[in-house]
Amino acid sequence: MCGIIGYVGHQEASAVIVEGLRRLEYRGYDSAGVAILNGGIHLRRAVGKLINLADSLAALPLNGSVGVGHTRWATHGRPTEPNAHPHVVGRIAVVHNGIIENHHQLRARLVADGHVFSSETDTEIFSHLINAGVSKGLSLEDAVCAATKDVSGAYAIAVLDVDHPECVVVAKQQSPLILGVGAGETFCASDIPAILMHTRDVIFMEDGDMAILTRDGYELRRFETGIKVERAVTRIEWSAVAAEKDGYEHFMLKEIHEQPRAITDTIRGRISMADGDVYSEGMEITREDLANLRRIVIIACGTSWHAALIGKQYIEEATRIPVEVDLASEFRYRNPIVDSRTLVIAVSQSGETADTLAALKESQRRGARAAAVVNVIGSSIARAAGNVLYTHAGPEIGVASTKAFTTQMAALYLIAVRFGRILGTLNADQGRALLTDLLAVPGDVARAIELSGAARDIAKTYVGATSALYLGRGLLHPIALEGALKLKEISYIHAEGYAAGEMKHGPIALVDEFTPTIIAAPRGPTYEKTCSNLQEVAARGGAVIAIGDEDDDELRSMADAYLPVPRSTPWTAPFVSVIPMQLLAYHLADLKGTDIDQPRNLAKSVTVE
Ligand code: M6R
Repeated sequence: MCGIIGYVGHQEASAVIVEGLRRLEYRGYDSAGVAILNGGIHLRRAVGKLINLADSLAALPLNGSVGVGHTRWATHGRPTEPNAHPHVVGRIAVVHNGIIENHHQLRARLVADGHVFSSETDTEIFSHLINAGVSKGLSLEDAVCAATKDVSGAYAIAVLDVDHPECVVVAKQQSPLILGVGAGETFCASDIPAILMHTRDVIFMEDGDMAILTRDGYELRRFETGIKVERAVTRIEWSAVAAEKDGYEHFMLKEIHEQPRAITDTIRGRISMADGDVYSEGMEITREDLANLRRIVIIACGTSWHAALIGKQYIEEATRIPVEVDLASEFRYRNPIVDSRTLVIAVSQSGETADTLAALKESQRRGARAAAVVNVIGSSIARAAGNVLYTHAGPEIGVASTKAFTTQMAALYLIAVRFGRILGTLNADQGRALLTDLLAVPGDVARAIELSGAARDIAKTYVGATSALYLGRGLLHPIALEGALKLKEISYIHAEGYAAGEMKHGPIALVDEFTPTIIAAPRGPTYEKTCSNLQEVAARGGAVIAIGDEDDDELRSMADAYLPVPRSTPWTAPFVSVIPMQLLAYHLADLKGTDIDQPRNLAKSVTVE
């Protein structure tokens, strides 16, 4: 996830752009850059937070009233200055938010045609394609359209052309892009806050739209056909603070709603349906390496540990290699048995959790092979592991992990399929079937998020509870742990997660009319057993909130409250089941009036041991 902005008007473009980027910094902040048109392209880029770019521009300003800017959350290529946007090739400068899925093939083709790349990014492909188009005599708009025909994936781009010094051309496919209309000035941006101080009149571009922006306004077209289109102008009434949260009251709620997009970004460009396999670029491992392993150990903390527990079940099922999951803070202090025949996978959103980093380094010291599933590019854990599968969830601001969790599960799902295919423990048909199921997850998660209103109604009933139990079996046991953690950390209600079969070995003593039990019971291998556990709770006077298939009337009739989720497979059930738990925790906390995004005593990144 990155942020882009473009400006054509009467103000100093660099000032408008840097201010806009400041409001987009939540989308990424490992490097930033601007390009200004003024008798040529004037480029300034800086690694690190936006302040570095702002300082550089303050020291040596760039003047001009047409420009584009970018704040980066690295996906392809490290956070370095050459990889920072804008990417200039010939007459053309491009900023891009998204992922070009066929960048390998396009890059190879362009290199074979004599193009020389100066960055590791997928974005530079756009600069080469568009510059090649205008060099052949195409108009700028036609060159942009031609480039979109070659590229597959997600993109919102803003393009400058030295030969068109009075305009910015933009195009959108699956990445957000809005236009802003001011008096004698026109804007584009990834998100509303970037332009809200200049205009409240906004056009939401649709996939397949391109636009030519000038001082006098904009012209929208479909890039497939070139046909002009009209889109409604929306007057934005949000305050600037509300706008940063996309109109949501809290970052956590915004991030819950981002999950379909975030999971799509984790999967994007990594699936080969033809082979029933996964491109795990960054996580390189050979058949020989895998066959040589005695076991895999996954280390993590908190929510990431819950994702790891699910990853264990995926990988064991797909490969039959034994997988252990350890809390990083325990692993490192107990003389762990790891050697060169152990693969240690660290799972971390921030990539900075001190215990996870130390546990990873300790296992490397003992000779283990290392790998990581990380969200933040270039973070300490990513650098230490070297072998990394990035989740591409985008920055997570809320302390309570939501999209980081579901994208970690998606990444571990991909790893399991990849390892299974490498070893041959999964054949192509089995790989294809699992990947087909995974591709349905973003849509199913989007439908589960529609339960927000129902979750709020349930929360109203239980807002006075001081304790809650969460139950699930198999892949849904870690989901019960995660549901309980979410509730604890933001609503301060005591909660415990248990494997449902363990209830009768002790925790059932806690059941009473004041302690609701939340039970994940979509149909699956242990469905009947879980239903029996539900009835054991109900028989003791406990209130039951059940999460189950939307067509399961029997389960619905057994529960006091029901949260129906789309039908899932055993491997995809964790995704749809955790969403109502996130929503329930959110609404309970909101009703209690806690500080949801920054709960007491917690920090987003725990860099102390
Ligand atoms: O950045 P990490 O994934 O390594 O962080 C691990 C935990 O600190 C984190 O998951 C924490 O438990 C979350 N606040 C849970 O919502």
